[in-house]
Amino acid sequence: MTASGRKIRPVSVAITGIGSLLTNDPELGTITDAAVVLDGGRVAWAGPASRVPDADERVDAGGRAAIPGFVDSHAHLVFAGDRTAEFDARMSGSPYTAGGIRTTVAATRAASDAELAANVARYVAEALRQGTTTIECKSGYGLTVEDEARALRIAAAHTDEVTYLGAHVVPPEYATAPDAYVDLVTGPMLEACAPYARWVDVFCERGAFDGDQARAVLTAGARAGLVPRVHANQLGPGPGVRLAVELGAASADHCTHLDDADVDALASGSTVATLLPGAEFSTRAPYPDARRLLDAGVTVALSTDCNPGSSFTSSMPFCVAIAVREMGMSPDEAVVAATLGGARALRRDDVGRLSPGARADLVLLDAPSHVHLAYRPGVPLVSAVWRHGVREASAVQPFHTGRA
Ligand code: NIG
Ligand code: FE
Repeated sequence: MTASGRKIRPVSVAITGIGSLLTNDPELGTITDAAVVLDGGRVAWAGPASRVPDADERVDAGGRAAIPGFVDSHAHLVFAGDRTAEFDARMSGSPYTAGGIRTTVAATRAASDAELAANVARYVAEALRQGTTTIECKSGYGLTVEDEARALRIAAAHTDEVTYLGAHVVPPEYATAPDAYVDLVTGPMLEACAPYARWVDVFCERGAFDGDQARAVLTAGARAGLVPRVHANQLGPGPGVRLAVELGAASADHCTHLDDADVDALASGSTVATLLPGAEFSTRAPYPDARRLLDAGVTVALSTDCNPGSSFTSSMPFCVAIAVREMGMSPDEAVVAATLGGARALRRDDVGRLSPGARADLVLLDAPSHVHLAYRPGVPLVSAVWRHGVREASAVQPFHTGRA
């Protein structure tokens, strides 16, 4: 609307001169010398530049590659403080354990709503500058009814993909009564949190929650209308992956320590395997075997797991580069997993692709092809981002010390 109340017609934009366009559409594939028309927040057309239809505006991509915006389906952004000292010690040989989560819980409980909201906004903006146009966000650093509900409320102001992770770790005040904590997570905490969330998650791992506890959390969440996803088999073998498949979870996340039965279960079910190589990088652990999963026919997603303990990166390009170098993925497979794979892990068909009807989330790379995301690791290749059809301004962000 203008000041006089007149409606402004949405402007359609034709992005032409795209050197290589990854559509993730089975019919369209990857198109060289391509164009895309964005209209009303959606992709209206994608195809060869020679056939581009008229639009209100034109942007010349100058031969750059275009990909769908990254879909980061696993992130923990509502927290305060950082764990620099823990990381530093780890790089000198200390092991990573689930218990480190409690350090962030203490800092998060002590933070104000405004501090937490500012942190989420900062990390969402940081991710956007690196091409992420859809991001999931979990609670899990509050672990009281009030602190989990406020984490989800704050997350919901930034994304529709909000996950209730009251079962991240047993908080110190329940150390001697973990089952009483599970009762809280499946009772009053769930009731307070469900209105803000779409998903329910549990850290099913030694040092966090066992298979029975995880089942109780996920089934209670499902009864409250939330769809399960599971932190599974990150630090060692365990029941998480098979439980995820049995319960029809949208995603089993980490999948670092899998036996043949886990891989078979994933291959025969609909649960996406979400791999989080930032966690193995930052915990100096062996990477998950993406090749084994892909060869078995499993749908694979790549995500950052952005959190202050085990993976303090918001960079999907970084995860793509590691997945190619260390996990047996081709550059094509890795970029598809970071876009379409993430969309599948979030059960979304409007993002992760650039074909007519999709949300107009497009990233232009300062490179002739998306292969450069792995070929040129660590280089800031994201040159422009459209989200919901709106071109994002890449504002310079202030330096951030990490203090709450
Ligand atoms: O996904 N695995 C559980 N949660 C996070 C770790 C969180 C932390 O260490 O603070 C993860 O790696
Ligand atoms: Fe995680």
